[in-house]
Amino acid sequence: MLASSAPRSSARMTRSLLAADARVGPRDEAEGMSNVILEARGLDKFYGRTAALAAASLAITEGESLAIMGASGSGKTTLLHCLAGIITPDTGQVILRTRGTETDVAALDERERSRLRREAFGFVFQQGLLIPELTALENVAIALMLGGMPRAAAEGHAAGWLAALGLAGFEDRRIGQLSGGQAQRVAIARAQVTGASVVFADEPTGALDSHTSSEVMDALLHSTTGQGRTLVVVTHDADVAARCSRIVHMRDGRIQPSEVAA
Ligand SMILES: Nc1ncnc2c1ncn2[C@@H]1O[C@H](COP(=O)(O)OP(=O)(O)OP(=O)(O)O)[C@@H](O)[C@H]1O
Ligand SMILES: [Mg+2]
Repeated sequence: MLASSAPRSSARMTRSLLAADARVGPRDEAEGMSNVILEARGLDKFYGRTAALAAASLAITEGESLAIMGASGSGKTTLLHCLAGIITPDTGQVILRTRGTETDVAALDERERSRLRREAFGFVFQQGLLIPELTALENVAIALMLGGMPRAAAEGHAAGWLAALGLAGFEDRRIGQLSGGQAQRVAIARAQVTGASVVFADEPTGALDSHTSSEVMDALLHSTTGQGRTLVVVTHDADVAARCSRIVHMRDGRIQPSEVAA
């Protein structure tokens, strides 16, 4: 049920991306970073005179759950968006490593980054970014249909994911007819359904009470690291961060030294 149902594998997609200028060469095993799947190298990002990122560097290991914490305005969302190819840094590289090759996400053009986001990455945001006019099933299936899968097949996969996240029987509800926690589980299903290798979540529990927040984290961890995928979570909630395998703190656009979660 939870197996990848990607219409095209992210490995194939990444190989095709390697034709682009973004190829930065074979992985250097001597670096001893063979398990690093995604890496920010010296990212700067300015909004006018505001430095949202200032030489931010971070290496994310395949299969880990990483919490990014820090004060409001410290650059967490900006870093997440650079890692996910939603925006590009002014300087620095975002290296995605798969199958012994490296791709600089920040050097891809918008069309290639869009494909990467669709096929290799999944997203869960505070408000879920679900489409209120569509049902739970349609909100999940649309992620596959955007990748070219026919509706019937897409809805079949979507139903499987909703069931895996405890939402069997809720397929035909519109988003406004679901609780906050149920809606976030729909968002998690949509983030997983394409077989994303890295799932990014920005304050995924920010609008939820502590009990529902814990249930959503259960679902998020089970469906990501529990399946060998990688999870990057921005959160203000120490309880959410403590569920992750590693916590890093941001300050003034930089990553502070990391610590292992208790
Ligand atoms: N699109 C934008 N235009 C102008 N300034 C921006 C933009 N996005 C972010 N900033 C600024 O960059 C800095 C970092 O913002 P960012 O959203 O990354 O912070 P954050 O750590 O996610 O904060 P929060 O915890 O409040 O979500 C802030 O000073 C913010 O005002
Ligand atoms: Mg933010």
